Amino acid sequence: MTDSELKTAWRGNYSEVEASLAMIGDCGRVVAAFNANIDAVVKVSGSRMAQLVAATGLVQTAFDNVLPRAIRSPADLVRGLLRCFSQGIAEEWLIEDEAVFAWARDHVGWDRMQMGGQAGIVANAMALCGVQDVLVHCASLPADQARLFLDLPNLRSTGSDSELAKAHDIVRNDSPMVHWILEFDGGDVLRLPGRDVTCPKSNRFIATYDPMNLGLRVDEAFQRQASSLPVDLVVLSGYHLLTETLPDGGKGADRVDASMEAVLAWRATNPDCLLHLEIASTQDRAVRRHILEGPARKVDSIGLNERETIDLLELLGDDELVATCNREARADHMLQALLRLFRHTGCPRLQLHMYGLYLTVQQKGFRISPAANRRGMQVAAVVAAGKAGTGALEDRSALLWAKERDVSDIGLTELKRLAYRIGLAWGRSDIVTTGIFNGPDFDIIAVPTILVEHPVTLVGMGDTISSVSLVAAR
Ligand code: GLC
Repeated sequence: MTDSELKTAWRGNYSEVEASLAMIGDCGRVVAAFNANIDAVVKVSGSRMAQLVAATGLVQTAFDNVLPRAIRSPADLVRGLLRCFSQGIAEEWLIEDEAVFAWARDHVGWDRMQMGGQAGIVANAMALCGVQDVLVHCASLPADQARLFLDLPNLRSTGSDSELAKAHDIVRNDSPMVHWILEFDGGDVLRLPGRDVTCPKSNRFIATYDPMNLGLRVDEAFQRQASSLPVDLVVLSGYHLLTETLPDGGKGADRVDASMEAVLAWRATNPDCLLHLEIASTQDRAVRRHILEGPARKVDSIGLNERETIDLLELLGDDELVATCNREARADHMLQALLRLFRHTGCPRLQLHMYGLYLTVQQKGFRISPAANRRGMQVAAVVAAGKAGTGALEDRSALLWAKERDVSDIGLTELKRLAYRIGLAWGRSDIVTTGIFNGPDFDIIAVPTILVEHPVTLVGMGDTISSVSLVAAR
């Protein structure tokens, strides 16, 4: 089949999108927990980066040095940025020193402030898509952050009186938690003495200073409210900000366990509620292992990108597959990685959001059918392209902004690679046109996505994709 015939087939599949989006209104309540913060977003050009290298005195030999993946000085921040720029990858490192935070504020600056953190981003997206009631957990919610929640009545959090109220209007006497989102463009060049570095792919580096979310404390008032109401879906995240030993001396693992207890209590009163965990870029290996062996085994669904998948795979000791995926994070390689994680965790549904393709592996008989999954993933692809193309999901017109566009060539290439791999392992399938393969003890659903040539933004894409895929899977 030619690419143009494939595009026609996928145009047919995507014709379901508008109806599926409308059906999100049937979803009663979503809880988004735990991390919401302010994102200070700034586009950094190659020439600006050269200035930052000069200003921090970062030396050439430090460029290839990836350890520690933590920020203790301005030079560390620039080192992380350079690593992501030169490889076109996304990572998040923690700023450990308040002085570096002040340096970033004064020397890096920002173009705009927007809602950040998986819970914050997911809450806005869910409310805009029409979920009837969205509850968002906020460790800190000063007025400046509350205003970044959409001005919608179906989006609530706990106010200073511990009662649920419209999130947009809440004013709590908390400090603002700001994360620096440094975005860069593919093709941009950083000219350094004796060396030019070309960025292979648009992406972002996140430098985070966030003492409130770093300790992952569950807000008791929120806990009480969430466990007393019927809930359809909980989207969990925020573990990636923990470290093995916390700044207050506590253990990251204990906070993971305590929050999971809270979540399992919500589920105890809502046995049908679906638990989804968004992995996010987790630099601390001990915390990553704890997530893999704890929450990842208890939830119904997991969302991750290529990097996060490889980072988890690394813990399983399959060095050869890790090397293959690191060399080229192609869909056929990533499928093997996903299957390894699927078997290891026993989690019934894993969804990878990679560049150009979303790929779900799930247990046979999972409560969301393969066809419903595909519908959800298609809506997610259109909404994500709308976010990338318009810069923000602030009104409903952005949701369908990309609906007439064709799926990307890159997505089709990845889908064909996947189909080839499936063919070798299990025989012929029509996954290239239907997006569905019924495997021996699992099903695979793959959807080529719509890519926007000059995205206005990329941050928060994974969170949006995972949550929309689930609520639109009807
Ligand atoms: C991480 C970052 C947050 C950002 C989010 C986007 O949680 O800490 O700043 O908004 O990722 O996915």
